[in-house]
Amino acid sequence: MSDVPEPTRLPEWAALEQHRAQGLPGLRDLFADDPSRAERYVVHVGDLRIDYSKHLVTDETLRLLRELAAATDVFGLRDAMFRGERINTTEDRAVLHTALRAARDAVVEVDGENVVPAVHAVLDRMADFAGRVRSGEWTGHTGRRIRNVVNIGIGGSDLGPAMAYEALRAYTARDMVFRFVSNVDGADLHEAIRDLDPEETLFVVASKTFTTIETVTNATSARTWLLEALKDEAAVARHFVALSTNAGKVADFGIDTANMFEFWDWVGGRYSYDSAIGLSLMIAIGPDRFREMLDGFRIVDEHFRTAPPEANAPLLMGLLGIWYNNFHDAQSHAVLPYSHYLSKFTAYLQQLDMESNGKSVDRQGRPVEWQTGPVVWGTPGTNGQHAYYQLIHQGTKLIPADLIGFVRPIAELSDGLKAQHDLLMANLFAQGQALAFGKTPDEVRAEGVPEELVPHKTFRGDHPTTTILATELTPSVLGQLVALYEHKVFVQGAVWNIDSFDQWGVELGKVLAKRVEPALTEGADVPGLDPSTAALVAAYRERRK
Ligand code: F6P
Repeated sequence: MSDVPEPTRLPEWAALEQHRAQGLPGLRDLFADDPSRAERYVVHVGDLRIDYSKHLVTDETLRLLRELAAATDVFGLRDAMFRGERINTTEDRAVLHTALRAARDAVVEVDGENVVPAVHAVLDRMADFAGRVRSGEWTGHTGRRIRNVVNIGIGGSDLGPAMAYEALRAYTARDMVFRFVSNVDGADLHEAIRDLDPEETLFVVASKTFTTIETVTNATSARTWLLEALKDEAAVARHFVALSTNAGKVADFGIDTANMFEFWDWVGGRYSYDSAIGLSLMIAIGPDRFREMLDGFRIVDEHFRTAPPEANAPLLMGLLGIWYNNFHDAQSHAVLPYSHYLSKFTAYLQQLDMESNGKSVDRQGRPVEWQTGPVVWGTPGTNGQHAYYQLIHQGTKLIPADLIGFVRPIAELSDGLKAQHDLLMANLFAQGQALAFGKTPDEVRAEGVPEELVPHKTFRGDHPTTTILATELTPSVLGQLVALYEHKVFVQGAVWNIDSFDQWGVELGKVLAKRVEPALTEGADVPGLDPSTAALVAAYRERRK
C-alpha cells in the first residue's frame, strides 16, 4: 500500500474541487429540475431504506465521488479486510469484525487458519451461559438466582453493549436488572450497585486488554463490595465472568479462565460488541435474538462486499460525508435518531467514527493535508429540535445529518402510546423538509410578517440530510444499522488513506494520568509537569486538606 498516492493529489480529487467551484443549484432547484431524484436517490439494504435525495449532489457529483473511491481503491482495501489481511498496519493486525457474524460454515482465514469455528465455539459457550443465567440454573454463591447483571467496561467494552441494551430494551428479560458501569468516577459503580443484592448480582468484566485502569479499578471495587457481603473468596467464581483477549491478566485478576469468554486481537474494541463483549446483551435479549442481530450485521456485510458502487449504501454514505467534509468545509456530522430506544446510538457512533478516523497522519506516516473524520454528535431528534436544531436551521455552519426513524413503534406500547408514533415520525419528516427547502423571504412575507422580521423568519434551507427508514427496531435492524456505519467509517478512512483501526491518540492521556495520580493521592512531586497543570494540582491538593 506504500504506493498509494495522497488523495488530494489525484485528478479525481481535483475534478471534485472543480465541480464544487462551479457551484451547484440548491435543493429547491435540484428537485424542480428532477423530481425523480426522490425515487432515484434511494438505496435499500436489508430492511433499511436509505434516502439521500436531500443532498447537495447531482448524478455528476455522485459519479465523481465514485471515481474518487475507485482511484483510492476503497474496494481493494475492503476485499483485503474481508480476506483477513493485516490492514491495521500500525498494529500489524487483521481487521475482521465481519468474521464475528460470519455463517457457521463460512471460511475466513487469518494467517492460514480458519477463525470461524472459534467464533462459533465462543458464541455457543456464551449462549449456554446466557441460557443458564436466564433460566436460573446458574446461581450465585449462596444458591440464589442471578437477577442483576452489571457490565464493567469502557469504550468499546461498554458503549456497544450499553447502546444495544437500550435499543433492544423491548426484547430484554424484563424481570432482570442490567446496568453498565464505565466511569472510574466511583459514583458510577455506586449508583449501579447501591440498591442491588450481592447474592443476586453477576459482574461481567469486559476488557479486550484487561489492563484498562478504569475497568480494573471498578472491577476490583466490585469484588470488594461482593466479598464484604459474602465473605468468601470462592464467591468470585459464581459472580464474576470476564470477556477478554488476555487470559493471563484475567487469571491475575482472580477470575477463573473457565469463566472467561474469549475474543481475538483482530477485533477492534469499537468493533467488538458482536463478539464476547456482547455477553451482557446476550443475557438480556437471549441467544436467539442475539443471533438475529448477527444476521442483521451479515446482511449489510454481504451488501457492502457485493453491491455495485451506485447502489452500495456504506460507500454512498461515506462518499456523501466526504463531499461535505472535504469540499464544503463541514466540520461535523449529526446523527439524529427519532427513537427513544436509540438514545445511546450517537454516543456509540462517536467512538466508532471519531476513534477510527480522528487521525492526522496517513497510512504511510505522512502528515495529512486534508480533513479527516468529522465531529459526530447528536441525540434523539425530537429533544434536539427543542435544543440545538436552531443552529442547524439558521446558524452559520453546514451540518449534514442522518435522520433515523421506524415505521412501527414496538409492539409492547399501549394503543394510546402507539398512537403517538405518527407524531414522532411527522417531526422527522418535517425536519428533513425544513432543513432541505427552508422558507424564502417571499414565503415569509406572504404570511404577513412585518418586513423587519422577515430576515429572522427566513430559513435558508440546503441543509443536507440522509433519511434512514426501517420497519421496526428489531435485533436484526440494529445489526444492520451498526454494520452500515462501521462500513461507512471504513470507506472514509480508505479514501483519506488513514489507518482507521488504531487509536494511538488515547495513549498520552493514559500515561500522564498514571504519572499525575501519585501527586494527588500521596502528595508526591511529579517531575515534568507544565506550570499550568502543576498549579491545578497544587490548588486541588490545597482544597483537599
Ligand atoms: O482507550 C481507548 C480504548 O483502547 C478503546 O479503543 C477501547 O475500546 C477501550 O479503550 C477499552 O479497552 P479495553 O477493552 O481493552 O478495556
